[in-house]
Amino acid sequence: MLELRNVSKEFVNNRRETVPAISDVSLSVSAGDFISIVGPSGSGKSTLLFIIGALMNPTEGDVLFRGRNIYETSPSVRAKIRLEEVGFVFQTFNLIPYLSALDNVAVPAMLTMNSRKDAVERAADLLERFGLGARLDHRFSELSVGERQRVAICRSVINNPALILADEPTGNLDPAMTHEVMALFQELNKSGHTVIVVTHEEEVAAYAQRVLHLRDGVFTNGTGSCERDCASTVA
Ligand SMILES: Nc1ncnc2c1ncn2[C@@H]1O[C@H](COP(=O)(O)OP(=O)(O)O)[C@@H](O)[C@H]1O
Ligand SMILES: [Mg+2]
Repeated sequence: MLELRNVSKEFVNNRRETVPAISDVSLSVSAGDFISIVGPSGSGKSTLLFIIGALMNPTEGDVLFRGRNIYETSPSVRAKIRLEEVGFVFQTFNLIPYLSALDNVAVPAMLTMNSRKDAVERAADLLERFGLGARLDHRFSELSVGERQRVAICRSVINNPALILADEPTGNLDPAMTHEVMALFQELNKSGHTVIVVTHEEEVAAYAQRVLHLRDGVFTNGTGSCERDCASTVA
């Protein structure tokens, strides 16, 4: 369902030097996979996830997602892909602070469904399914950190995306909440979503079926850098 072909991304820093963030990465993901990408800070995890999620153009290479070369499509097609086919979860939740949990989750559905009422109903069902039925009216400041991340996960899946991407989703959680959130991703994967989680923690990565190691913008097998198409040999 997803293929990265020789993807590279370079940034220009404030001293006008070119900094490689991702270098010649290839990766093939099948529908139903649960993959984690583990690497230290600065290894290129967020950059890679943003490129996969139709949020950031690579400098070189192609990203094929469900039959389309996404950076050859128009910005409006990419916006539609992000809204309908990809769910994003962030370390810092990125919830809208002045909205209730219910409205935070309902917003993406309001953009895709004709009826506001249906969107809110679907959001309430989802929050109830994830144990947050008693938190519908609570705003960001009235939720525990674990609840905030569960609300953000509900928001990411409200439009039933084929692919869920999570960028250090347990980075602000204690071990018990980390387990709870990773178990949720496992459950979502079992119910048919393809999931990619990036993390700097091996224990978090271990919840996935397949663990890829990223260092200095290339996949390694854990012992050293490897050649082109390393991802498929790691799998
Ligand atoms: N917008 C940017 N401008 C310049 N350099 C960046 C930018 N974003 C990321 N980088 C650099 O790219 C590298 C990878 O960053 P990132 O993908 O955020 O890594 P990680 O998520 O693994 O911590 C780092 O060296 C970082 O400083
Ligand atoms: Mg990051």
